[in-house]
Amino acid sequence: MTWPYCHDPKTMELRITRPGFIAGIQKLAASEAAVPHLPTIERWRRGNRATPYDPNFDGTRQEMRSYVCGQCHVEYYCGKGLTLLFPWDKGLKVEQIEATYDGIKP
Ligand code: HEC
Repeated sequence: MTWPYCHDPKTMELRITRPGFIAGIQKLAASEAAVPHLPTIERWRRGNRATPYDPNFDGTRQEMRSYVCGQCHVEYYCGKGLTLLFPWDKGLKVEQIEATYDGIKP
């Protein structure tokens, strides 16, 4: 059985498919949070930012190994009237996630 969330079924290349992850990582990239463990986000920030950070295009093999699992194995939120939300707008630390939640008006 293929596991279509994580691999291209033909080539077995790692890939990201979950829209919540993609939206979340793009917000993280656009934020000012330090991400020394994600070098391609830091590189994207230094570029012209003509297109949003794209994990499938920009991510290294090492980053993709974390990203594929992080499509599900992360903190996320799905509240009334909200699209599934990865709360990474201000960074990945718990206080940054809390600040993101505090900014959501119910
Ligand atoms: C599409 C969502 C999704 C992705 C992507 C995903 N997981 Fe999971 N994972 C789950 C769910 C849901 C469970 C709980 C399954 C259950 O308890 O029946 C789980 C369970 C697990 C468990 C516990 C298994 C056990 O026997 O208790 C481990 C370890 C794990 N995942 C690791 C990973 C790793 C490593 C990756 C990336 C290579 C990954 N997962 C990618 C959804 C996902």
